[in-house]
Amino acid sequence: MADRIPVILDGDPGHDDAIAWMLAASSPLLDIRAVTSVCGNQTIEKTTYNALRICTLLGLKCPVAKGRPTPMVAEPMTAAAVHGNTGLDGPVLPEPAMELEKEGAVELMARVLRESSEPVQIVATGPQTNVATLLVSYPELKEKIRGISFMGGGIAYGNWSCAAEFNILVDPEAAQIVSSSGLPIIMSGLDVTEKALIFPEDFERIRAVGNPVAKVVAEWLEFFYEFHRKIGYEGAPVHDAVAVTALIRPELLDMQDMYVQIETKGEYCRGTTVGDVRKTMNKEPNMRVCMGIDRKGFADLLVEAVKTYDKGAE
Ligand code: BDR
Ligand code: CA
Repeated sequence: MADRIPVILDGDPGHDDAIAWMLAASSPLLDIRAVTSVCGNQTIEKTTYNALRICTLLGLKCPVAKGRPTPMVAEPMTAAAVHGNTGLDGPVLPEPAMELEKEGAVELMARVLRESSEPVQIVATGPQTNVATLLVSYPELKEKIRGISFMGGGIAYGNWSCAAEFNILVDPEAAQIVSSSGLPIIMSGLDVTEKALIFPEDFERIRAVGNPVAKVVAEWLEFFYEFHRKIGYEGAPVHDAVAVTALIRPELLDMQDMYVQIETKGEYCRGTTVGDVRKTMNKEPNMRVCMGIDRKGFADLLVEAVKTYDKGAE
């Protein structure tokens, strides 16, 4: 088999972050070198605790480090209505079996990049605070970044304001730094992630796999769906797992190269990902934007992923 891609998972877990990490850790194509937390769905204390509990459940043995307590410029904003008071309400999870690294998230990212002989892929499933701080603080390490696959934004619409999606709205300044970095970027925004619906019958397929990870994932999906069901969704939009799918099963996605700018000001549109769909700006694309997904293939991928935990967390 070809060499696995070294990966840093940076997120604000969060039910869909947790499922994204489950998917990443199941893949023989990826080699997870670090997990870093960011504030977003909940406070940094809570997302970090969740990150440790998820890694324990999955049997992930990589270093885990905590991000800063605030976005780069803005005040923190949380999503308790979606993910609950803990940021990961629902099933009981194991207590952390590992210690946090003493260094912070950005320093751990920098160390992983420095120590890697090959470029490292970053998967960002929360606000882009850590990734942008890494780019600003360690510009000499940019060449060690293979690319950034992020969940965030939406070309057509937002979810936290009319125009802006949560991850970008929490830290637009960070997203602006990332989008103008010149690095290979894949954006999985609401255009695709709201089509990445996992239906209640899929929860049952996952639960039926029967191992401890499968049972927890089915319960995470149930919790996550309950919020969305009440506002009219037919399934749980597992947003963050699309950013991992883009790396391990890109053929499930429709992608378009696009020039995308981040609105950092604006009375109504702060945090919007403004995509030049019609090429009116005559600019080189700065990212590959996922717009469509084979939903059934995505659901099957999650079912296959939970099966890899059959042998337990060792
Ligand atoms: C994004 O916001 C968070 O609530 C989810 O974890 C996802 O990353 C969707 O807008
Ligand atoms: Ca997230």
